Amino acid sequence: MCGIVGVVGRGPASTILLDALKRLEYRGYDSAGIATLEDGSLRRRRTVGKLANLKSRVDSEPLSGRIGIGHTRWATHGRPDETNAHPHMVDGVAIVHNGIIENHRELRNDLKAAGAHFTTETDSEVVAHLVSRERKKGCEPVAAVCKVLPRLQGTFALVFLFEGYENLLIGARKGSPLAVGYGRGEMFLGSDAIALAPLTDIVTYLEDGDLAVVTREQIKFFDVNGDALDRASAKIAISGVAVHKGEHRHFMAKEIHEQPTVVGQTLAQYIQPNGTIRLPRGADVDFSTISRLSIVACGTAFYAGLIAKYWFERYAKLPVEIDMASEFRYREVPFRVGDVALFVSQSGETADTLASLEFAKTHGQGIISVVNVQTSTMARASDVVFPTLAGPEIGVASTKAFTCQLATLMCIAIAAGRCRGVLSAKDEIALVRALADTPGYMARALELEPKVLEIAREVSMAGDALFIGRGTNYPLAMEGALKLKEVTYIHAEGYAAGELKHGPIALIEKDFPVMVIAPSDSTFEKTMSNMQEVMARGGRIILLTDQRGASVAPPSAWSVLVLPDMPQSVAPLALAVPLQLLAYHSAAILGTDVDQPRNLAKSVTVE
Ligand code: F6R
Repeated sequence: MCGIVGVVGRGPASTILLDALKRLEYRGYDSAGIATLEDGSLRRRRTVGKLANLKSRVDSEPLSGRIGIGHTRWATHGRPDETNAHPHMVDGVAIVHNGIIENHRELRNDLKAAGAHFTTETDSEVVAHLVSRERKKGCEPVAAVCKVLPRLQGTFALVFLFEGYENLLIGARKGSPLAVGYGRGEMFLGSDAIALAPLTDIVTYLEDGDLAVVTREQIKFFDVNGDALDRASAKIAISGVAVHKGEHRHFMAKEIHEQPTVVGQTLAQYIQPNGTIRLPRGADVDFSTISRLSIVACGTAFYAGLIAKYWFERYAKLPVEIDMASEFRYREVPFRVGDVALFVSQSGETADTLASLEFAKTHGQGIISVVNVQTSTMARASDVVFPTLAGPEIGVASTKAFTCQLATLMCIAIAAGRCRGVLSAKDEIALVRALADTPGYMARALELEPKVLEIAREVSMAGDALFIGRGTNYPLAMEGALKLKEVTYIHAEGYAAGELKHGPIALIEKDFPVMVIAPSDSTFEKTMSNMQEVMARGGRIILLTDQRGASVAPPSAWSVLVLPDMPQSVAPLALAVPLQLLAYHSAAILGTDVDQPRNLAKSVTVE
């Protein structure tokens, strides 16, 4: 989603802003812009499309100045064109905004009635108008911002730059993340720490309702009443590391290959030397008193939750309800006070998931989350946080965060089973042993890459594809389809294999590609029957299985990808790898923008 940067610096602001925006590219965007103060006057450059366009504009029409703000916009209100790109400027006030001003229509009408002239279709422009109106009434910048913020409904991270104020930026946050970074004689603002690395590794994350008044010498925090706030800074460890692709062409490839390592790191937090699971200190949840677990997430994280539903039910005998976060609040869920809701998220900033979290809280649910970004809003809003140690995930399509989520969720399910007295010590040790072996299975799965590449040459020519599986292979089928469609733009669907004959089988015709996910688990035979049904109608089968499965599968699949034999419990983590590789290589062959597919944002901070 939109990315924000700001600098009150010592050197040329435009260079710093363009570099920082580059680090925010991964969030997804469709236009970009920067504004600086040149001899006290506001100047800006904006362009549609990639940052390279903005850079060439700035190269041909340079912007001087040591203070400035920048933005990458992911369009919500108004087309992705140059006029709607941020920063918005109104009479000496420039702003950049992430979030949605929900009452923008009403505010726009009021402002228009008072004579304001709007130049964009965005919700954000009202903020610039409102602040400039307060300035005209004689308010100093901070006072003007304080007057306007309470009028804004919805979510925002905002940064303000004022004509004539060479040493002042104001940041404000409600709902959308914003961080300030400390330098020597220079200070920064950014929508996440990745934007600020490598400028500084000392940051403070604003809390909701905070205002940061940023000058070269210091950063002060206030609430909208002007009362000073104490906000601690923290040293972050991600300086620079986040933005290197290593030997890979794309972040997505790098992140797929990192999985054995980061899944291993994640598991190491939970697996004890005696082969049992220990949840981190302070993360002990009394699963024995819970009658139901609600799992809520979006997209890939939702599919991780769906796989975990099978695990919680199987190993902890714990009933699970699972919802997409965008639907959860609109069902009339009969909650039992004292039950637990579990939220899964890479970014910890997904608006739908955060709104669901607050909804569950107000219904007396204990809040636990599985989150990759430990400084995120979700981590801070949860009673208990189970970290995934995937490291920064830059490719928009989630890969390593997904498998780390699975690893963590399996550990929690095992702990829950023990806590509820339904998982024997022997079974726990067997499950943990399988988990400990999982990075090895994933490494073996990566060895399938040359064969996956061959398959990708065919799949990349298809217009449609189906992915099918049963049990945990069903959510995996949906994840495989999601990966393929988001990075290749090929239409793909994931289906429960047994459901095919209830409708989708009508799609099958000669050479229609169907990816069958069928390791030799308890559902194998039934899935083989569904595969035969597809083959009988001319479908082109790509079978993803293990050695045992390959030895008994019908020989007529077009292509077979064979993983090592492994326990059913952990198979989803290894099976995910060839699915990710298939999506990646198909996209690379097609030449799509693999790391920033069209229309997508890394962290979806609007509902
Ligand atoms: C797909 C993908 C998205 C995210 C979803 C939730 O590859 O990345 O579907 O999984 O937007 O995001 P987080 O996990 O940040 O809450």
